Amino acid sequence: MNSAKIGIVTVSDRASRGEYQDLGGPAINDYLQVVLTSEWQAVPRVIPDEQAVIEQTLSDLCDQQDCCLVITTGGTGPSRRDVTPEATESVCDRMMPGFGELMRQVSLTKVPTAILSRQTAGLRGDSLIVNLPGKPKAIAECLDAVFPAIPYCIDLMN
Ligand code: MTE
Repeated sequence: MNSAKIGIVTVSDRASRGEYQDLGGPAINDYLQVVLTSEWQAVPRVIPDEQAVIEQTLSDLCDQQDCCLVITTGGTGPSRRDVTPEATESVCDRMMPGFGELMRQVSLTKVPTAILSRQTAGLRGDSLIVNLPGKPKAIAECLDAVFPAIPYCIDLMN
């Protein structure tokens, strides 16, 4: 049996230009190493905050690379360059608003600025796409809240 592929997408102008070390992608990878018991394979990407590039990357990871799950980090805030949620909505067939709602609710118990994240989630074909904020410490805070539902969600879709 092939191992499950998981797309890990860092959306950051500075990280994609090499001006800033990508900490978010490795933090997601580390988290998954701990929680996943079956075999899986990471498909990592580091891309700029460009909506067309994000859409193309998400579509490729879902359609060509056959990732059952794609987790993004970064680009969910209110700045003009933050367009990850728009790109996610644009490539998804159906949205899963509960993921963003729960991650914000749990994050608000940690930091009041959690309200600034527009993070969302949705389904494209047989793939689930989940947005996380860019701060590395937000990754475990958010995934702890929603990860229990992710394998079940993927099972229900297939
Ligand atoms: N959520 C958690 N759990 N922890 C955090 O530190 N930072 C917030 C918010 N959500 C944060 C969080 C901040 S400061 C911002 S600006 C938004 O996420 C958006 O971040 P992004 O643009 O890097 O995605």
